[in-house]
Amino acid sequence: MSTLPLSREMPTVTDTFGRPLRSLRISVTDRCNLRCKYCMPEEEYTWLPRETILSFEEIDALAGIFTELGVDKVRLTGGEPLLRKDLSGLMRMLRRNPRIKDLALTTNGVLLAEQAQAFHDAGLHRVTVSLDTLKPERFKALTRRDSFQQVLEGIEMAVRVGFKGLKFDTVAILGYNDDELVDLIEYGKRFGGEVRFIEYMDVGGATDWSMDKVLSRAAILRLLSQHYGPIEPVLEKSSAPAQRFALPDGTTFGIIASTTTPFCATCDRSRLTADGMWFLCLYATEGIDLRQPLRAGASRDEIKALLLAGWQARRDRGAEQRKELERVGIRARLVEIERLRQDPRLEMHTRGG
Ligand code: GTP
Ligand code: 5AD
Ligand code: SF4
Repeated sequence: MSTLPLSREMPTVTDTFGRPLRSLRISVTDRCNLRCKYCMPEEEYTWLPRETILSFEEIDALAGIFTELGVDKVRLTGGEPLLRKDLSGLMRMLRRNPRIKDLALTTNGVLLAEQAQAFHDAGLHRVTVSLDTLKPERFKALTRRDSFQQVLEGIEMAVRVGFKGLKFDTVAILGYNDDELVDLIEYGKRFGGEVRFIEYMDVGGATDWSMDKVLSRAAILRLLSQHYGPIEPVLEKSSAPAQRFALPDGTTFGIIASTTTPFCATCDRSRLTADGMWFLCLYATEGIDLRQPLRAGASRDEIKALLLAGWQARRDRGAEQRKELERVGIRARLVEIERLRQDPRLEMHTRGG
């Protein structure tokens, strides 16, 4: 029986590799107002049908059941979550649940300036903003939208309304932003935020992906130490995907090396899509449908049993399996575009990044 006793009031449910169910990423919409090349490079997308999108009440009800099984970290994602009307309303609902110790948001920042105050008032704990470049023209080329200024204003507003310890997520791509790593760290310092460099991943949706565009953790460290001098790893025990490092002046940054150094062994996260499919791995092709039982009137206990059985059977280690393909020289994009059109849930932007 895979449950671990804990000092908290509830047992932690664990999967077949002993990994606890701790962190839930809730995608509130699959829509996005940018078209980042590493995530949404295509011209056309198939969207989830509107009537299948969970209401805030439905999301809150499901989140509540997850927390009864040990989830205490919730992150709201998209697509771009701020496209969902009155997102602060959902935050307020989730904050009523005392089991949620950490409520965070991942956003591209475009609409953040107008909503940051409402989020702070609603009790959101943490904000992560995607920031891949500090060059307006590059931003436009990468995202195919002219919203760079709005992102900067969003970040400034988030700081002004009182969010502390912002994180900036930078997908590091060779030949695209490898010359900006230092500038991004310096930008982070100005706002008291920590930059995390993410290796370009071969997830569904990344139809332009190839291994030769991946700026590896080793290359990132090399580039940064050429500028800053010796870099030390920060020693800490954590299930977070980022490994943290410190520059000689004490500034810290993270690297999420899912492509070259997967962290599947400690992965405690799962994802709920906006239409209520529960995915146990970023790379999983099949999810567990929670919307259907929820809308059919299943009881809390019935849904809880579904979650319990799903997690206890979990064997996923998607990033490690991708890495194994590399060893035999056949690592290429994960899913072909035709298949993505048939099943948008295979897309990274539907799974919440
Ligand atoms: P905290 O640790 O709570 O700050 O959050 P986080 O680092 O999980 O959140 P964030 O949304 O900033 O995630 C950063 C990036 O890590 C994502 O955008 C993905 O690129 C990557 N990532 C997140 N979850 C997974 C995962 O389950 N597997 C892999 N391989 N990569 C992930
Ligand atoms: N590789 C790495 N990270 C990605 N994201 C989306 N697509 C990719 C990819 N192919 C992540 C980025 C972005 C967040 C919303 O999703 O971190 O900031
Ligand atoms: Fe870019 Fe995020 Fe939108 Fe994907 S979901 S296109 S990463 S902003």
